[in-house]
Amino acid sequence: MNEKFSKIGFVLAVAGSAVGLGNAWKFPTLVGQNGGSAFVLLYLILTLGVGFIIFLAELSIGKLSEKDPVNAYYTLAPKNKRLWSLVGFSMIGAILIVSFYSVIIGWIVKYIYFGFFPLPKSIDESAASFGNLLSNDVISQFVCFTFVFVVIFYVVSKGVKSGIEKLNVWMMPSLFILLILMLGYSFSMEGFSKASDFLFSPDFSKLGVGSFLSALGLACFSLSIGVGSIITYSASLPDKTNFISSTINIIFINVIIGIMMGLIVFTFVFEFNGDPAQQGPGLIFVSLMNLFSNINPIGFLPLGNILAVVFFIALFFAGITSAISMIEPLTFYLINSYNFSRKKALVLIAFVVYFLGSLCILSSIEWSKDSLEFFGKSFFDILDFVASNLMMPLGGLFGAIFVGFVLKKEALKTLFNPYMRGIFFEIWYFFLRFISPLAVILIMAKQIFF
Ligand code: PHE
Repeated sequence: MNEKFSKIGFVLAVAGSAVGLGNAWKFPTLVGQNGGSAFVLLYLILTLGVGFIIFLAELSIGKLSEKDPVNAYYTLAPKNKRLWSLVGFSMIGAILIVSFYSVIIGWIVKYIYFGFFPLPKSIDESAASFGNLLSNDVISQFVCFTFVFVVIFYVVSKGVKSGIEKLNVWMMPSLFILLILMLGYSFSMEGFSKASDFLFSPDFSKLGVGSFLSALGLACFSLSIGVGSIITYSASLPDKTNFISSTINIIFINVIIGIMMGLIVFTFVFEFNGDPAQQGPGLIFVSLMNLFSNINPIGFLPLGNILAVVFFIALFFAGITSAISMIEPLTFYLINSYNFSRKKALVLIAFVVYFLGSLCILSSIEWSKDSLEFFGKSFFDILDFVASNLMMPLGGLFGAIFVGFVLKKEALKTLFNPYMRGIFFEIWYFFLRFISPLAVILIMAKQIFF
């Protein structure tokens, strides 16, 4: 991994890590569950005020050390090296994430397959078919999950650079074009204005107890921060890459994809009088299948089916490039610190991921779900909550404190100087030291005490 990315390869890899199911699946799901617009606003504020700031901090840690997360903190800390290196272990969070994330990509694989058959005719039919997959179809879930698992580990075993660069070059633009087409189509529906109201006219009374922490978790999740992915990729950041403009672009694409997905998904929810909060993790699948089944065939050409297949394939790749970036940090660490071969490191990680992923599947299946429920939550939800809402914000918080208070300001200034200086640098630095950490601490305190 010490060999550098090409300039464009780096940007694409980081964008590939960031853009994924966080935007396409988690964003609409959480927006639905948290009452819409006010949650969107909260997410946007936290993306800029916390996500963006910490993203640049993690990028600095990676670039200045050129090491895996644990060794990066160890190398850069002037004292208490061992203590700081513990923060690098937040990368374990990424292993938890990839375990349930691969299960979701597995659902996407199943939906690519569904695309070859007649599409559901109503939102109820569509919901029933997702419900069936989730709670009864253990075989499909395992087959799809295993397939995804093999693909991910195969790509990472080939080494990140060659594997990822090629995948991203065509994946991202095609996903974007498809979304624009689908948005255009949604625009012609009556549900569209309800969807944009739902997303854009803030109603703060709709925020629930957990909404703040969920929005923070989502902001971290969709930017891949707090679990070592950005540090790891930035360790191979080529010199003379304008990482500021790349970061701004990535954040912009990230937010836009979430909003576009939200508009499309909720248009179809409202069009068919569905309830945005009701479908849970199945929201995008249920709603999008209705969109596709509404598209009329052109002559013999089943346009809806074709679009469904192509769209879910694009989503599949968006997920894969993110999943890869979750496995790479720990792999890189095991190689660096224990002299493991890449293969040996991956076999070890693969065991853990397969085991946890299997438990996630079983935690939604009718006959096994009761034994995998703790504190009223499924194993899947617990994994998501612990990794996304606790480990990511905490990893990010310590990263911010480390860069803001432990690293020398001069070193950062030199690193940033060609791309961001003067007042902009100072504002970032101020946010990094005070505003972003405070926001994370307050939101966590709110969750615990209020
Ligand atoms: N950012 C990715 C997404 O939005 C998820 C991710 C989380 C990637 C953590 C890497 C590390 O889907």
